[in-house]
Amino acid sequence: MQDEKKVPIHFAPLQGFTDAPYRNMHETIFGGIDTYYTPFVRLEKGDSFRSRELRDIEQENNGVNHLIPQLIASTPDEMRKIVTLFREKGHTEADINLGCPFPMLVRRHKGSGILPYPEEVAALLNCITEFPEMQFSVKMRLGWEKPDECLALLPLLNKLPLKQITLHARVGKQQYKGETNWNAFEAFYRECKHPLIYNGDISTLEDINRLMTRFPNLSGIMIGRGLLANPALAYEYQLGVALSREEMLGKVKAFHNLLFGYYEAHLQGNDQLVTKLKTIWEYLLPDMDKKVKKKIHKSTKIETYRAAVSEGLK
Ligand SMILES: Cc1cc2nc3c(=O)[nH]c(=O)nc-3n(C[C@H](O)[C@H](O)[C@H](O)COP(=O)(O)O)c2cc1C
Repeated sequence: MQDEKKVPIHFAPLQGFTDAPYRNMHETIFGGIDTYYTPFVRLEKGDSFRSRELRDIEQENNGVNHLIPQLIASTPDEMRKIVTLFREKGHTEADINLGCPFPMLVRRHKGSGILPYPEEVAALLNCITEFPEMQFSVKMRLGWEKPDECLALLPLLNKLPLKQITLHARVGKQQYKGETNWNAFEAFYRECKHPLIYNGDISTLEDINRLMTRFPNLSGIMIGRGLLANPALAYEYQLGVALSREEMLGKVKAFHNLLFGYYEAHLQGNDQLVTKLKTIWEYLLPDMDKKVKKKIHKSTKIETYRAAVSEGLK
């Protein structure tokens, strides 16, 4: 494993978790990531954007080496407006979300909700030819309902000038649960002419090994929850070994200190600070003592929060 060529690891976009401060501090403390993505940017009623989403794509708020902003849209008109925003903000790449499973968006044929409609996908994606100076990628699922919906889209996808496709090996109806479907992934992998990145349930070095043994021609692996749980996973993959418990705790402490300092300076009051910091513990270090984790989640005051985190990282 150590001597083999390493594939690039991409940090999946996770709304509510991987915002700009998280990405910046992750790269500073853990590293090992080839590309970070912003959670999706959408067009609101009246053609406006949410200020949180605007902040997240501003160059001055982003320090990572390689960041790709992501968009979600169902019509070329919407997509054009979001890509224009990205370009105005100095981005030269955009990732198109064809995978989100949220019912509200799916009903409007956004995210994985557009996958059963090849003509709508064609109309949406043809918009990329209007922006020859930008590079586009697609992040999609096997389908909304059936895992072969992605195959019906392949002739169209193969013809487009895409930088890469990331395929989450589930259908939208599964949300984030149930088994990933490697046989359905393989059917797409065999016929896809673009660099292909695998996504779904990779959380250990063994998972990466198993994946690369079955799919040696992958161009990368995108990891989401596995990195929220073990933020050192990509770094460990580059090293070829897992970190010792001591090293891991040291890095998590440093990471937490940076996030704490950042949010203390940027949020209003301790209530907001505790609420924001608690979110990272939803996934982080799943093996931590359950009682301590509970203390972190139940804390409402900054002092009790800090005491619980110190206990957990002892
Ligand atoms: C809380 C949460 C938020 C997510 N937000 C986004 C998003 O904004 N854009 C996107 O393409 N995928 C989003 N995803 C999907 C992840 O990027 C990823 O495809 C999925 O979690 C499967 O990969 P994993 O098993 O490595 O986590 C989100 C997933 C979760 C659990």
